[in-house]
Amino acid sequence: MNKKTDKVHLVYSAKSPEELAKRYDEWAKEYEGDLLPENYTGPEPAADVLGKYVSKDASILDAGAGTGLVGEILHRRGYRNIEAMDLSAGMLEEARKKNVYTGFHQGILGEPLELTTDRFDAIISVGTFTLGHAPSRGFDELIRITKPGGYIVFTIRPDYYENSDFKDQQAALEAEGKWRLVETGEPFLNLPEAEPDIYLQVWAYQVC
Ligand SMILES: C[S@@+](CC[C@H](N)C(=O)[O-])C[C@H]1O[C@@H](n2cnc3c(N)ncnc32)[C@H](O)[C@@H]1O
Repeated sequence: MNKKTDKVHLVYSAKSPEELAKRYDEWAKEYEGDLLPENYTGPEPAADVLGKYVSKDASILDAGAGTGLVGEILHRRGYRNIEAMDLSAGMLEEARKKNVYTGFHQGILGEPLELTTDRFDAIISVGTFTLGHAPSRGFDELIRITKPGGYIVFTIRPDYYENSDFKDQQAALEAEGKWRLVETGEPFLNLPEAEPDIYLQVWAYQVC
């Protein structure tokens, strides 16, 4: 493990949203400089999946937008109606500089969001539903603010999916008729240049 990936583990081990927000606020300015040289791969595969189902004129929320890497990719691919949401003001400040988002929301996944019901055509969330970050109950609010027929695309670590309540929660939401599974991608290395190996997997659901 090196100094850069130490920061990844520091955010994984946060004990509360307040502690996590503080750690990301402190990391915000160095986040991209730390992760991009390690070939951080999360955003592209998620954007690829979203692109299969969501048209260019869709209103999209980037949930856990961070410094805006996902928004940048979507904007490059022709999406023009993307809003950013994150618990860290510092990360949102960096995202603002990208000039690719049309709105900014500070909020906590897992708690009620100040966003109206059926507001977005799609939600994308990369690297946010993970250890010490957004809990699985965060999906309830994402489903609420997505229009029926809209899509929720997110990444999750396969090991975390298996060993947390995500597996049961995702299945329960489907059994309750809240969403239906559209696609599960193959696991891929999140930081190919860094140790230890962390895999991510893209999931896509359609809201009912
Ligand atoms: C690993 S970063 C990923 C950022 C960006 N999506 C990317 O791929 O570069 C995780 C982001 O999720 C945010 N986050 C973590 N837990 C959250 C929560 N419960 N609610 C909202 N944002 C959260 C963090 O502040 C951070 O910006």
